[in-house]
Amino acid sequence: MLKAEDCAIVDMAVHASVYEGLYETNVKRFPHNSLIHLERALVDVQSKYLTRIVVIDGVYSQDGGLSKMEEIYELTKKYGAFLMVDDAHGIGVLGQTGRGAIEIFSLLDKIDIISGTLSKAFGHIGGFVIAKPEVANYLKFQSRQQVFSSTSTPAAAGLLKAIDLIDEEPEWRIKLADNVTYYKKGLLDLKLDIGTTASPIIPIKIGNAHKTGNAARLLLEAGVYVNAIVYPGVSRKDARIRTSLMATHTREHIDKVLNAFEYVNQRLQIAKGE
Ligand SMILES: Cc1ncc(COP(=O)(O)O)c(C=O)c1O
Repeated sequence: MLKAEDCAIVDMAVHASVYEGLYETNVKRFPHNSLIHLERALVDVQSKYLTRIVVIDGVYSQDGGLSKMEEIYELTKKYGAFLMVDDAHGIGVLGQTGRGAIEIFSLLDKIDIISGTLSKAFGHIGGFVIAKPEVANYLKFQSRQQVFSSTSTPAAAGLLKAIDLIDEEPEWRIKLADNVTYYKKGLLDLKLDIGTTASPIIPIKIGNAHKTGNAARLLLEAGVYVNAIVYPGVSRKDARIRTSLMATHTREHIDKVLNAFEYVNQRLQIAKGE
């Protein structure tokens, strides 16, 4: 629990839920993945606040891209700050053993606080925090979200199996990665702008909010339901269709989506530079 004497330095693209946890403390924001701005902020707050904590996502939820975790970790250590990583989209999906984006960067034993959700790869609701015993204990008694919420439902027992399956059935991650490669190639062949994604979250960046809404409508007519993401989910000029793949998608499913995007592109010219 950060208070008036503390400061959180957050990447501008972190998920909205991060801000809910920052009401009682000081917050500085730095442009997405900008190491120069982060370092400037760390220097600026170094002698002003008791606890300084940098908060980033492992996988950014709208772009599907990764944080510059290694460099950010080095900077936080250099300036005596803590590092918290929300790896909601990475855990269970990315990394050799499914431990997430943090595993890709070999930082599992280095990050001070890891948060994750049970609502994505684990197929449930709720979330978790991984930290040193003294931090975990402190949160158990001080975190309002922990103290004032009711217990999970019996269905949470399924989570134990979900956790085991992440270790026991890596083939799902391999199939998912395979699907991602195939789908991304198809989108790039159509000259669509998929940004910096490095995960199964794959945006098709269109820019204009109106065109994005129309694209979503045409996709639905073609039998493909997608999320149109506009402001305030992303900045006003950065509207996009956000798609996420699953291991259980088949080539037929993916081809159907690619064909639908081809059709939408013919109708609306959503490809790069058009
Ligand atoms: C990066 C990130 N963190 C946290 C959350 C919150 O997860 P939940 O919806 O399970 O509370 C989300 C949800 O989309 C997310 O994308």
